[in-house]
Amino acid sequence: MTIQLNALNKVYSTPSTTVTALAPTTLTFTEHSFNIIVGKSGCGKTTLLRLLAGLELPSSGNIAFENPNPKIGFVFQEPRLMPWLTVTENIAFGIKNKTTDTGELANTRIPFLLATLGLENFAQIYPSQLSGGMAQRVALGRTLLQNPDIILMDEPFSALDYFTRHGLQQTLLELFQKERKSIIFVTHDVEEAILLGERILIMQKGSVTSDISVPIPYQRDLSSPLVINLRKQILIGIE
Ligand SMILES: Nc1ncnc2c1ncn2[C@@H]1O[C@H](COP(=O)(O)OP(=O)(O)OP(=O)(O)O)[C@@H](O)[C@H]1O
Ligand SMILES: [Mg+2]
Repeated sequence: MTIQLNALNKVYSTPSTTVTALAPTTLTFTEHSFNIIVGKSGCGKTTLLRLLAGLELPSSGNIAFENPNPKIGFVFQEPRLMPWLTVTENIAFGIKNKTTDTGELANTRIPFLLATLGLENFAQIYPSQLSGGMAQRVALGRTLLQNPDIILMDEPFSALDYFTRHGLQQTLLELFQKERKSIIFVTHDVEEAILLGERILIMQKGSVTSDISVPIPYQRDLSSPLVINLRKQILIGIE
């Protein structure tokens, strides 16, 4: 689903200060695309995601979605699971009481997600028994089960160790290649941006200052000259 930002702007005012978290920003996110937003702490990444999710109202400007009322999934830095529900129940959380064919969900979609996310053997386990990486896989499954048009991800893997993060990046790429959701993924990890993004937007102090297309096929080799150049371009852009 195409998303158009029109002079989208967010200013936070407190009695003592005014912060422009997002300066007026006009850009388009195209359908089925993997977008990365990268930038230093405080540059406005979360603000942009929260505006997209409708968790904040813009100070001025607007967001136009191709279709009204798009389904938007949000994956946070921490998994936010319900401790009293099993892995399967957590994934199904939020969809149970809707008029959905729960038979199809239980028989097909949930097993597919458990398998794709490497959670088959954890289906009946409770969150307290999961590692951080496994818990984040459950959070991803819960979002994917909602079948969102757009998935917003705010540093979803940043609390994980290198190897766990790498595993989750690969899983997310596989899912993206199978299902081609529109993803807007915030990170401050340059390597993660390079491995995942079809397009990398760099933010600095509330503005999108670079917009880089990445026409490099997936399973990107971090030592290839194209990728090394891209890394330089990003590092210069972020400064
Ligand atoms: N509710 C709020 N009230 C006042 N200021 C805010 C609020 N939320 C964010 N800000 C300010 O807006 C700016 C952008 O914050 P934001 O959380 O979007 O940054 P970020 O790029 O996500 O940073 P990080 O990488 O640390 O998560 C910061 O200066 C922050 O202090
Ligand atoms: Mg943030």
